[in-house]
Amino acid sequence: MKKNILIIPGDGIGQEVTTWGKKVLEKISEKYGHDFAFDEAIMGHVAIEATGNPLPDETLEKARKSDAILFGAIGHAKYDNDPSAKVRPEQGLLKIRKELGLYANLRPILLFDELLNASSLKPEILKGTDILFFRELTGDVYFGEKHRSNDRNFASDLMNYNRYEIERITIKAFEAAQRRSKRLCSVDKANVLETSRLWREVVQEIAQQYPDVETEHMFIDNAAMQLVKNPKKFDVVLTANLFGDILTDEASQIAGSMGMLASASIGDGTGFFEPIHGSAHDIAGQNKANPLASILSVALMLEISFGLKEEAAFVTKAVADTLKAGFRTLDIADNTTSPELILGTKEMGAKVLEAFAEKK
Ligand code: IPM
Ligand code: MN
Repeated sequence: MKKNILIIPGDGIGQEVTTWGKKVLEKISEKYGHDFAFDEAIMGHVAIEATGNPLPDETLEKARKSDAILFGAIGHAKYDNDPSAKVRPEQGLLKIRKELGLYANLRPILLFDELLNASSLKPEILKGTDILFFRELTGDVYFGEKHRSNDRNFASDLMNYNRYEIERITIKAFEAAQRRSKRLCSVDKANVLETSRLWREVVQEIAQQYPDVETEHMFIDNAAMQLVKNPKKFDVVLTANLFGDILTDEASQIAGSMGMLASASIGDGTGFFEPIHGSAHDIAGQNKANPLASILSVALMLEISFGLKEEAAFVTKAVADTLKAGFRTLDIADNTTSPELILGTKEMGAKVLEAFAEKK
């Protein structure tokens, strides 16, 4: 299979982790006889430094032409405490999501048994959890009109949704629920927000076309609580952009660390694959980042964009075997991990590639 893959490392630890995602893609292409060609582009703080624009036209053009995109991370500490900054790295990510029409963000909470002790939650609460989040990604308060009064003392961000924006992601979520355990929980705040009332109306309507799926509606505050109280009760979770952003960071603790969670952003065109973690400037360039979320993002790319199920399963298995062998990066080590098994980014990436070699 011939595919053009664009790598956008982005900021902070993005470069370190995508290096390993790319190496895994190279190995897969070699092993299964595919022809993956790679190109690279800049986005975020690095792009602002180089061009003044967090998403240069050239990057967008390359993105449109590629078959899939592997992205690293975005952001820089410099902007976090400077609310007045007009040009910000995150604008690059938001713009590419909008431009490529990536309206559905899939965030699987993949829990490896080996990491049951890495979470701050009790293993017996976690064991058996398997959640797939569908986070709407190109609407909501993220993209509504922003306003600041002249005297700077009033600010507003408009939260809005169109019916079609809710419909298209809801359909995708129901289709996934049919392939999984046929349970879908839609999360909103319909007791307060008009956008959520529209959301619930639309989900209720579409649910009628999927009578085999058990549909539940839950308020976001309750969902945030239930997620740590009894995560096993969830299967497919469908929610809006902002709620999904918050809920999936919370859910990452079920998997042990943000460093483990991959995501797929899809729409009608090119798919975009990235870890859910940020740029982690505090550890950037120190060989401490966990490359597994980037590697697992590659597995999602192989399966979702290219339909290569066997290859995707092979990558996930290599990660599982590496964890089974006891290897950990700092973020997923616990007090039972012996120090010689705690690896840096490069060593962990190399272990996953070794696990490839050991399998037939
Ligand atoms: C994410 C990130 C982004 C978001 C930021 C970097 C804009 O937190 O992908 O979850 O809020 O969507
Ligand atoms: Mn986030």
